[in-house]
Amino acid sequence: MTPRYAAAALCVAILFALALAACNQQAPPAPTPARGNGWLTGAPDQATKDERLERYLRGFDQPMWEVGERYEHVEQALRDGNWPLAAYHWEKIQATIKGGLMKRPKRQANAEALFLGEPWNGLHEALESQDPKRIGPAFARAKGACMACHAAEQVPFINDQPLFREPLPLPLPVSNDAR
Ligand code: HEC
Repeated sequence: MTPRYAAAALCVAILFALALAACNQQAPPAPTPARGNGWLTGAPDQATKDERLERYLRGFDQPMWEVGERYEHVEQALRDGNWPLAAYHWEKIQATIKGGLMKRPKRQANAEALFLGEPWNGLHEALESQDPKRIGPAFARAKGACMACHAAEQVPFINDQPLFREPLPLPLPVSNDAR
């Protein structure tokens, strides 16, 4: 190889190496993709995120839906003489209503005046006593309290449905251990 060719080959090699190095440059890292569809993680700011969460979690209807569901379970547990299960759902009902009041504080006055005091406590204590003679009347009072709050909160139509229409067969069983 003549020195001229050697120099030319060297130039080509250097250019090739430079081109290769340029190609090897890392592309800037892609932004971390939002999880899911990004309705919260991809929100432009915290205020938008809060607003979306509030809208999604809704108002008092959503906790009331859970309360209605658990109320049915209370009723069934009473029919079965399963006092601890009835007490379990009854406690969750209180927690759910309190959670709802955090969202809708205007409903607090009626909730406390009509339901969360004696009617709720009365059934809770009766369930703890495991005495069916106390439980039956306490449940009837509590049911009346649910319905009174619906009337007071201007949603009396809620009361006109099977959930509140079906009477609890009395007397209640003595206990589920008796079977
Ligand atoms: C603060 C008074 C209050 C108390 C106490 C209360 N409710 Fe309600 N309930 C409401 C209001 C108000 C609504 C309608 C909510 C809305 O429109 O946002 C409602 C709605 C409901 C609904 C319909 C929910 C739905 O959208 O599917 C059911 C079922 C229900 N209540 C059951 C009960 C039961 C059972 C109890 C007692 C264990 C109870 N509620 C106690 C105020 C109350």
